[in-house]
Amino acid sequence: MKWLKSLALMSAMVISVVAQASPAAIKHQFTEQTKADAKVSVLLVGANQTAQVTGWSADTQAMVSAALAAKDFTGAPQQIVEILAPVGLASERLLVAGVGDSESFNRVAAEKLGAALWSYLPETADAKHTVSVDARLLNNANLVAAIAHGMDLRDYRFDRYKSNPAKTEVRHVQWAVNQAPSVADHYADYAAIAGGVFMARDIINLPGGDGYPQAIAEMVEKAVKPLGIKVTVLNPRQVERAGMGALYGVSKGSEHKAYLLALQWQGSKDAPIALVGKGNTFDTGGYNLKTSSASILRMQTDKAGGGAVIGAVMALAGQKAPVNVVAVVPLSHNLISGSALLPGDVVTAGDGTRIEVANTDAEGRLILADGIWYARDKFKPRVIADIATLTGSKVGALGTAYSAVFTEQDDVLRSMQQAGEATAELVWQLPLGPYPGIIKSNLADIANVGSPGAQAGAVFLQHFAKDTPFIHIDMAGNAYSTSANGIHPAGGNGYGVRLLTEWVKIYADIAE
Ligand code: BES
Ligand code: MN
Ligand code: ZN
Repeated sequence: MKWLKSLALMSAMVISVVAQASPAAIKHQFTEQTKADAKVSVLLVGANQTAQVTGWSADTQAMVSAALAAKDFTGAPQQIVEILAPVGLASERLLVAGVGDSESFNRVAAEKLGAALWSYLPETADAKHTVSVDARLLNNANLVAAIAHGMDLRDYRFDRYKSNPAKTEVRHVQWAVNQAPSVADHYADYAAIAGGVFMARDIINLPGGDGYPQAIAEMVEKAVKPLGIKVTVLNPRQVERAGMGALYGVSKGSEHKAYLLALQWQGSKDAPIALVGKGNTFDTGGYNLKTSSASILRMQTDKAGGGAVIGAVMALAGQKAPVNVVAVVPLSHNLISGSALLPGDVVTAGDGTRIEVANTDAEGRLILADGIWYARDKFKPRVIADIATLTGSKVGALGTAYSAVFTEQDDVLRSMQQAGEATAELVWQLPLGPYPGIIKSNLADIANVGSPGAQAGAVFLQHFAKDTPFIHIDMAGNAYSTSANGIHPAGGNGYGVRLLTEWVKIYADIAE
């Protein structure tokens, strides 16, 4: 930012930015000094650094050093030593936290550190009081901002279904940092990402009875407009009239029919990068019913791919990133009734392909077929990435630490892997072929199932991308955390927002 250049202002400046957490939030202030009267203070210390603060008396220094020695403090990542009633300080508690060595301290480590601190702090810090964090031993402004971001990501709560939710006060964290304006600048970019992650988590957490297609479309439309995102909402009639029979078919058995959502952030004049996300708002399986409670419970998370692409476009718009990106989200409700699709029915997709619905539980690829076609037909993108909770087969192959990616383009693969490493939202390549006849149908043009399962889904979707460079991300099993861990509280975790936000920027750079 321009005002960054006015160095004279720097020491006096107090910069505060709030991530739009829902419903609570942390308000971070980046300054160059510590808050002397804070009840809880945190000092961040790297490996091979001495826990030392200018202005501490010899007594304070001696007592901190002794306390750290007693706990064998080495500055290892996330090591936290809490000192009560530190001699000579106004704080009731001083937390000394390890950062690790500077080579391995990257964005992911910084976010984890922030999350670890935040999961520790509310136990000791009372919401009425500011927490003071001294990060002046660290010199990388981006990584200091990433620590604050890690706190925000962990702070998220979804308590709209609680009768007595915990208090939702804004918490204040005051940072003493080097280069406060630069830290605040980086933090503003991270806050935009947090906004996208929180939206994705809200979408995933919303139960299937309340979060049906129209409800999601309306909620998203309202949330993204202030960000300068162009929104198109197709209602069920428009979906049907546009010829998207595959998308329309999946919700035929529900009173909540199909919608399609398209969001565009046009931050450059390049051809758009298209993200297509599966927005199946509940998956009963249809007449191929999910017959065990374990398989049907939590199928409201089947809209997580949609949440991921919506969150990514929100993040990029919030950052005013110089990219042209569109998110297309086909929204369906895969339920049963007298009007639901039957196994063996044939639907006609937007591009004219006739699909034999050999299994009504393979609904994700049906709605994505039309989502991908719509993206291609309306936006002429230079690349399409789709993301979906698509197959149990993927979970069997890779578990939940990785998502599976399928592509024929090396640059698309490499940029996605790079984005995965940078965000710890890891991807692992599986092959598209050779599986000749994998989605062959005797009745129609293609069938919606085949074997191996994850590959059949990928090959099916590739058919609708035609000649546009394409990558399919199967994130089945990645969307939901049963317990809080690192930057994720329990529940919908927003997987894919950080990955795709990063990928769009990397890809926009390499494919000028
Ligand atoms: N939404 C499911 C996939 C899924 C499974 C997501 C487990 C998260 C956790 C998808 O629509 C589905 O039902 N897939 C079927 C496909 C099969 C019928 C070809 C599956 O994987 O069993
Ligand atoms: Mn299904
Ligand atoms: Zn599904």
